[in-house]
Amino acid sequence: MNTQAWITHFERNTRVNDHLELPLEQPCQLPEAIRSPLATSLATFQLGESGTGSRLRRYARQVAPMENFRGYQRAIDLFVAEEQSHARLLARGVQHLGGKLLTQQWTNSVFRRLRFLVNLEFAVQVLLTAELIAEVYFGTLYLRCEDPVVKKIAHKLLRDEMRHLEFQRDFLSERVVTLSPVGRWLWRAQFQAIHAITAAVVAWDHRRLLRALGLAPDDFRRRCLQGWRRFQQRLEHRLGAPSDEAATPAAQGSAPAPSGGLFPGR
Ligand SMILES: [Fe+2]
Ligand SMILES: [Fe+2]
Repeated sequence: MNTQAWITHFERNTRVNDHLELPLEQPCQLPEAIRSPLATSLATFQLGESGTGSRLRRYARQVAPMENFRGYQRAIDLFVAEEQSHARLLARGVQHLGGKLLTQQWTNSVFRRLRFLVNLEFAVQVLLTAELIAEVYFGTLYLRCEDPVVKKIAHKLLRDEMRHLEFQRDFLSERVVTLSPVGRWLWRAQFQAIHAITAAVVAWDHRRLLRALGLAPDDFRRRCLQGWRRFQQRLEHRLGAPSDEAATPAAQGSAPAPSGGLFPGR
């Protein structure tokens, strides 16, 4: 993994997030049927972005090559800092919508507990699942929510989460490539199961908002599953690619490959 390219990217981007200008001069004009579930839904995502990244750091200690250990640690620290800048940005969105920030929420609590119970691999797959679902969620908000503040936040977070998926792919490919064929199959099966369950839970938990935006919760869930397949296919392609190809996207600091199907119609 080209850690220096990611360090440069995260250092710059977190500053952009913290200074992002939002069109806050107008109060929110969304109908109540959208505003209320949106405020609650956004507050749930805000809480999810507020993590400290301790498990990701532990994971990095396990998988980082010794010669690049400091680079890995720095990139992960900056990645976590960027997630926390998302939490600050989302807090501004919740405030704009007249909602309340959460300190606890049942889905967050369940996954935090599960992460203690199962292995570290599981914890990282839960984090990755959150990134994949966030990509679909913010893509949906960007396309379907007419509020300019929410649209701007959703657009920024969508772009960032796409880069995060690219970062995670770089990071995880170095881990997964070390597994045996059976280990790799188990890794994939565990990840697929976690993702499928989480997507169903999130679609159900945010159903009021999704319906208010004209999207059936089951369609949202299906789009999440498509996102998982795209990610997994690209990860497997990366595992089979020569190492210089694997380093290319981050090394060149180029935009991530579009997820394709991220905007599968309104
Ligand atoms: Fe995020
Ligand atoms: Fe993320």
